[in-house]
Amino acid sequence: MTNIIDTPKPPYYAVIFTSKKIDEDKSYSKMSDRMVKLVSQQNGFLGFDSAREELGITVSYWKDEKSILNWKSNLEHQEAQKLGKELWYKQYKILGCGDGPSSFNFEVLKLNGNVTSIDPIYQFTKNEIQIRIDETSSVVSEELKQNQNDYVWENIKSVDELIDIRLTAMSDFIKDYENGKEEKRYIYNELPKLSFKDDSFDLVLSSHFLFLYSEHFDLQFHVDSILEMCRVSKKEVKIFPLLDLKNKKSQYLEPILEILKEKSFETKIIKTNYEFQKGANELLSIKAHNKFS
Ligand SMILES: C[S@@+](CC[C@H](N)C(=O)[O-])C[C@H]1O[C@@H](n2cnc3c(N)ncnc32)[C@H](O)[C@@H]1O
Repeated sequence: MTNIIDTPKPPYYAVIFTSKKIDEDKSYSKMSDRMVKLVSQQNGFLGFDSAREELGITVSYWKDEKSILNWKSNLEHQEAQKLGKELWYKQYKILGCGDGPSSFNFEVLKLNGNVTSIDPIYQFTKNEIQIRIDETSSVVSEELKQNQNDYVWENIKSVDELIDIRLTAMSDFIKDYENGKEEKRYIYNELPKLSFKDDSFDLVLSSHFLFLYSEHFDLQFHVDSILEMCRVSKKEVKIFPLLDLKNKKSQYLEPILEILKEKSFETKIIKTNYEFQKGANELLSIKAHNKFS
């Protein structure tokens, strides 16, 4: 506790504000000081108590509800809350493993987010990747047409619409690639080894790589990759989908859950709203903070 105030005789009102720690950022702490000054000048403000670790809790005390509403609608206060959210979002670090020529990194960047993507294809130049996309896209489209029944055509209505979406995503990726490489958002790495220090990211993801390619990568590869992803994540690892290319639950899911349990990792299978590959509506969440227990 930094201060415990003498609250007046009840009745009075208390507002609880929780926040996640934002690493030292000068503009944020300056703004925070300014907010303390500003709130102290508000009519009906009686004082506050606060405690801060990873999670911060501030309880402010008020004479009546009207004073609280006035403070909530204070423009400078609203701006400060917005800035706080943006800074937190920027500092929430995500690693995407096997992001390939997708526009995930670029889309999150547009939202001011912070994603690093790794993939073996990032060892190649923009032109080399473009040539590979051109060579494979007609084969992929043909395969999609032949296997239409393996997919749920709800959000995306037809194969042609899907091809359009994929081509747009790949073209966004290509446009962003060289910039992203310079900014170290696209990094050449290959699972099961990652070149990052322990706990470098808040969230580490695998989308359409682990489990999906169970025929191509064996159990040991999956175990080593997942443990490596846990090593570099300080909070969570998420893997989607849990099916293989034949739309069957990956044969490695159960053994991996067992191994993770033995190592005291907390795991959860979570239903997703998104389902495109038929039956692919679950993800595996692993809480990486258990890794040292
Ligand atoms: C089907 S794509 C998935 C792309 C993207 N994540 C998505 O969901 O659309 C699979 C990706 O895994 C990548 N990959 C293959 N071997 C890998 C490895 N050892 N480590 C990391 N990624 C790998 C491929 O290069 C490819 O880009």
